[in-house]
Amino acid sequence: MRILVINGPSLNLLGKRETELYGTTTLWDIENLLRKKFPDVQCEFFQFNSEGAIIDMLQKAGEGAFDGVIINPGAYAHYSYAIRDAISALEIPVIEVHLTNVYAREEFRRHSVIAPVCSGFIAGFGARGYELAVQFLVET
Ligand code: DQA
Repeated sequence: MRILVINGPSLNLLGKRETELYGTTTLWDIENLLRKKFPDVQCEFFQFNSEGAIIDMLQKAGEGAFDGVIINPGAYAHYSYAIRDAISALEIPVIEVHLTNVYAREEFRRHSVIAPVCSGFIAGFGARGYELAVQFLVET
């Protein structure tokens, strides 16, 4: 099982960014958590600040190297039709993950343009959301 994990803008700052919201767990901690928890799963873990880089990586995922994608699109979730289109073009399952419960936050975060083209949506469970997404892909 090969899973591509894509993290969007400013998620590289996890651990020091708005810690009251996102906690002190870093992206590196999340990557390590997945490696420890799922030693048999090949997880490729990336972070990009730009929309184009995320789309390039999603297109690569469509070339057959991965069985599923986990994406935390960051703020792009709320308005990027370009990322949505790139996900729509894929034939493998894509799970959208958010660390925080976006429905309990500002109005603009309560809508994802990406969720309708994903297999599932996980929000509000912090780093465990990534773990739940891998678990789902492994069991599917
Ligand atoms: C986030 C939620 C987004 O609204 C925000 O822009 C982020 C992080 C989350 O993981 O909770 O960058 O995707």
